[in-house]
Amino acid sequence: MTVEIKNLNKTFKTNEKEVFSLRNVNLKIESKDFVCLLGPSGCGKTTLLRLIAGLEKIDSGEIIKDGELIIGPSKERGFVFQQYSLFPWLNVLDNVTFGLDIGKESKEENIRRAKIYLKSVGLENTENLYPHELSGGMQQRVAIIRSLVNNPEILLMDEPFSALDMQNKHKLQEEMIRIWQKTEKTVIFVTHDVNEAVFLADHIVLMGKNPAHIKEVYNNNLSRPRKRNSEEFINIQDKITKILEN
Ligand SMILES: Nc1ncnc2c1ncn2[C@@H]1O[C@H](COP(=O)(O)OP(=O)(O)OP(=O)(O)O)[C@@H](O)[C@H]1O
Ligand SMILES: [Mg+2]
Repeated sequence: MTVEIKNLNKTFKTNEKEVFSLRNVNLKIESKDFVCLLGPSGCGKTTLLRLIAGLEKIDSGEIIKDGELIIGPSKERGFVFQQYSLFPWLNVLDNVTFGLDIGKESKEENIRRAKIYLKSVGLENTENLYPHELSGGMQQRVAIIRSLVNNPEILLMDEPFSALDMQNKHKLQEEMIRIWQKTEKTVIFVTHDVNEAVFLADHIVLMGKNPAHIKEVYNNNLSRPRKRNSEEFINIQDKITKILEN
């Protein structure tokens, strides 16, 4: 599996006036990569992710997955949104299995798979609870599991942990790495948090503003499990912070 972004441009206009422009993006993503899109607010991270998801049209250039142009959304690309996006009127199990293609697999099979995933993130006893009965971290886990049960090739995640406190954030980051290692998915993960990017990603795409663009792709070879207080970790974090500030 490869995703190739070539000479991509995207502009938003309001009353014929250009309000945002993403310029000349080139990026290659390979199977099982963990990629972070990192940059300040408004640098176009969500826009780039939505373009890869096929939720937004490109102006020029192309996004090619396995030799084919991405022209719209697909189940092979699962999206986890910036805000919690569970259905409040459905319980956890129904949220997770909502919209699964019942044509291909039996309902029992989908439920069985959903339960295995829920258990893997410690949510086995929450199946009958509703979103308002869960903490933010639990809701976000359910949202991640919901995208995983569809068995996408690529997980597109838009700042899924940004609303959490630091402890929960760290816990879910570790869980995310476990899930990624076990399922061997390709992950494209948006964040504005340098620490999060260094902890999670193999490839950190550093983005800048005015116009929005890719500054550099930093290949993060830090061995796993990663220790946030190690000298190497802190060095990489400093280096990336400097590049972003320039
Ligand atoms: N549909 C749209 N129409 C007009 N402008 C838009 C649209 N979508 C996004 N924008 C603008 O594009 C810019 C980039 O937005 P985007 O959401 O991609 O940034 P971001 O890097 O994800 O920021 P944040 O970290 O705050 O989520 C913003 O200035 C935003 O107002
Ligand atoms: Mg965003």
